[in-house]
Amino acid sequence: MLKITYYGHSVFLLNDGKYKLIIDPFIEGNPLSPVREKDIVVDYIVVTHGHGDHLGDSVSIAKRNNATIIAVNELANYVAAKGAKAHNMHIGGSYNFPFGKVKFTIAHHGSSSAEGTYTGEPSGALVTMDNKTVYHTGDTGLFADMKLIGEMNPVDLMLVPIGDNFTMGIDDAVKAVELVNPKFVIPMHYNTFPVIKADPDLFVKKIQDKGYEGKVLGFGETIEI
Ligand code: NI
Ligand code: MN
Repeated sequence: MLKITYYGHSVFLLNDGKYKLIIDPFIEGNPLSPVREKDIVVDYIVVTHGHGDHLGDSVSIAKRNNATIIAVNELANYVAAKGAKAHNMHIGGSYNFPFGKVKFTIAHHGSSSAEGTYTGEPSGALVTMDNKTVYHTGDTGLFADMKLIGEMNPVDLMLVPIGDNFTMGIDDAVKAVELVNPKFVIPMHYNTFPVIKADPDLFVKKIQDKGYEGKVLGFGETIEI
């Protein structure tokens, strides 16, 4: 079984009982986070892009845990320059780690650090642990290649932004689910800030009406897939 815990915004902890991996750990500064940076114990960190609400506390978490940050090349170089251990990858590539596999996908968005450093193309990540594939889309608008991503990488769990303004809103996110055709869906990237206010229950109702399964996770809530 793979345990998935949601810490608000786009932050998810994956735990297969042996390895722990966190995606986009925006903890301090995340008003929805039920935990603090010092509470995070992980082996690996996947970061989808350089924006502060995704890179978040990655560098301090990596250093404190001696954990490896997995990201596209330019972002991996950026965190390595700050003293974190990094594994450089890029879009379309996959790599087998001790915990399983990571493959990066495209995302239609931007990516730079808080200081304005270019941190490569934004990405989504397909993370396979315990034979379950989780597709964290990162921040993105809707794109038709999601159909290809779902066909080539059967998705057990899709983590999809619904907050609008910076990413897909609810109706585009519903279409994204139809394109990827995952077994289960969890909404993310909503209600952290007033500008991305959205109703996750409405989103889940809309995907259920299309025959998909999903759930709104509470902040700090864990499910098993
Ligand atoms: Ni972003
Ligand atoms: Mn974001």
